[in-house]
Amino acid sequence: MAPRISVIGTGYLGATHAAGMAELGHEVVGVDTDASRIRALAEGRVPFYEPGLPELLRRHVESGRLRFTTDLAEAAAFADVHFVCVGTPQGPGGAADLTALHRVVDDLVPALRRTALVVGKSTVPVGTAEALVERIARLRPSVEVDLAWNPEFLREGHAVEDTLRPNRLVLGVPSPAAEWALRQVYARPLADGTPVVVTNLPTAELVKVSANAFLATKISFVNAMAELCEVTGGDVAALADALGHDDRIGRKFLGAGLGYGGGCLPKDVRALIARATELGTPESVDFLHGVEAVNARRRQRVVDEALGALRRTGPWLHGRVGVLGAAFKPHSDDVRDSPALDVARRLSREGAWVTVFDPQASVTARTVAPELRYAANAVAACRKADVVLHLTEWPEFADLDPARLLEAARGRVLVDARNTLDPAPWLAAGWDVRTLGTLV
Ligand code: UGA
Repeated sequence: MAPRISVIGTGYLGATHAAGMAELGHEVVGVDTDASRIRALAEGRVPFYEPGLPELLRRHVESGRLRFTTDLAEAAAFADVHFVCVGTPQGPGGAADLTALHRVVDDLVPALRRTALVVGKSTVPVGTAEALVERIARLRPSVEVDLAWNPEFLREGHAVEDTLRPNRLVLGVPSPAAEWALRQVYARPLADGTPVVVTNLPTAELVKVSANAFLATKISFVNAMAELCEVTGGDVAALADALGHDDRIGRKFLGAGLGYGGGCLPKDVRALIARATELGTPESVDFLHGVEAVNARRRQRVVDEALGALRRTGPWLHGRVGVLGAAFKPHSDDVRDSPALDVARRLSREGAWVTVFDPQASVTARTVAPELRYAANAVAACRKADVVLHLTEWPEFADLDPARLLEAARGRVLVDARNTLDPAPWLAAGWDVRTLGTLV
């Protein structure tokens, strides 16, 4: 019989996972302590922007296959497999804060009345799962409770696709029984040929952070090459294309520009440094300090470029900056550690008058950066601007009319900090186009 599933923690990961599990044919209950979030999800409303998720959620809430509750005991009574999807935010010194994870285990395990498999999905420092096994034993459950680790690799903006058709499944399992249960859960993607790696708990934990650290390294590597291109007249876009044709390297994540941000890559790089230090092997990840340094320099580079242009146009303290993009990447309303918002805020702190337009993230951006002004569209953001910055590469920005924007603006400097706009129409309209390490 197919296992019944609970998903504990219905943030970005949990809400998507719960809907995805229902789509894979399972009976699912989603659990969260946040009553207003549970109410929204139970009504089929997703409290964040993720393409395709509202439709999936509504379909399965209506079919009755997916429901939501704040009552963990109800989930304990209902499910055989409990996915733990709570957040592990950055704590002091960069280390992950495991408070929510511990609370779930402490509340769930004593409430279990039937043999259960608890599956960690949250991103954690290596060693967490083995410590949780001991914690579970100390809670003296009245039934058999196994712990597995099954890291998640979904990308914001592609979360539904990544959940239903993952590019790999990693099952960190303590026993054949746990592996069997997870194979039942993922029967459909496995039947479709999804590659699976079955391994132990520490490896499964490490796969997740090392994947994100590797992606961050790839981005910083190409951004370091962009710095060299800038001083030599090279073109980092052509360089990345040429590197990418070598399929040992690959073209993905060689997009040079403003660098990485978001709720995952920056936090996971820092957490890996912190954990390696705790483990007494900080030199293993020494290079990650370099990765962080390049990433920080790219943001400063754009701030400097904008300030330089403002100074040339006059008394820059009163200069106006039009910013296109606030989200940490397109197709998302997430502004956590957003390079775009960071640059906008730094310019504002320097005294510039900054107006931002983002197709989805203005509301979230306003809550963290209320000192900036927000426009209803790109033209309004650029009105009377001395400098325009393209900071998040929403596809619709590629379709903007450069002549219209130039009419609205006061200056003519455009900094394409994502290197994704075709410079030709902007140059033709009269813009002075600057990029990061590419030829214009
Ligand atoms: C990342 C990973 O890609 C997912 O596999 C992982 O599951 C997720 O973190 C997580 O840990 O939950 P995500 O944070 O959604 O996903 O964002 P990415 O698509 O990885 O982009 C991260 C940042 O890198 C963005 O700021 C993006 O603009 C930047 N980036 C990406 C570049 O600067 N250049 C590139 O070529 C690619």
